[in-house]
Amino acid sequence: MDKAAELGALEEEMAGDTSLPLGPANLVFGEGSVSCAVMFIGEAPGANEDRLKRPFVGRGGQLLDDMIRGLGWKREDVYITNIVKRRPPENRDPSPAEIEAYQPYLTRQIAIIAPGLIVTLGRFAMNYFVPTAKMTRDHGRPLRIDGRIVFPVYHPAAALRSTEMMKVLREDFKKIPAVLAGKLATELPPAVESKVTAAPFEKTENGSARDIRQGSLF
Ligand code: URA
Repeated sequence: MDKAAELGALEEEMAGDTSLPLGPANLVFGEGSVSCAVMFIGEAPGANEDRLKRPFVGRGGQLLDDMIRGLGWKREDVYITNIVKRRPPENRDPSPAEIEAYQPYLTRQIAIIAPGLIVTLGRFAMNYFVPTAKMTRDHGRPLRIDGRIVFPVYHPAAALRSTEMMKVLREDFKKIPAVLAGKLATELPPAVESKVTAAPFEKTENGSARDIRQGSLF
């Protein structure tokens, strides 16, 4: 079976899977080139996407198209999808259970497409792949995860609400060809941050450790 047929079969299987949450909404499976180098992955469909059964077709989608064209590519050259493939009511955030329910399908979709690079759009897609990542710190950093490269960028809808984020998103986007060509050093995912801040110790005269914050002014 070729990739297009495999994806078609996967979409059909999803459509028939009544255990998947957000059932009343339309399935927005994803679209684009099956032999793409870059796969863009967002959060979940919105109202426009639900209506047209296509990912990223609203204002955020127009911005995404515009930035893809800015790289000299066309929307049809890449693959675009979401971690959750049905619209949550009132555009609320997808719940952890919803994200988990759609996960096996996204895993298979990625395996079939086998892109050279995954660009995550927004916090939810970023944390799906790298739970320890933080958007303000890790956007625009190519991260190596499970043999893939994940490149987190701001969500286009967020960039439409903030001039600063728009600037950052456009700058990060410009790096995509270099990341794809392996010209930008990849990094390991940030480590889990300890919830306990290590106390600063100093050695006392008798050799034992003393927390130097004790008795200090803070
Ligand atoms: N926002 C997303 O994350 N995905 C879409 O498909 C549309 C808007």
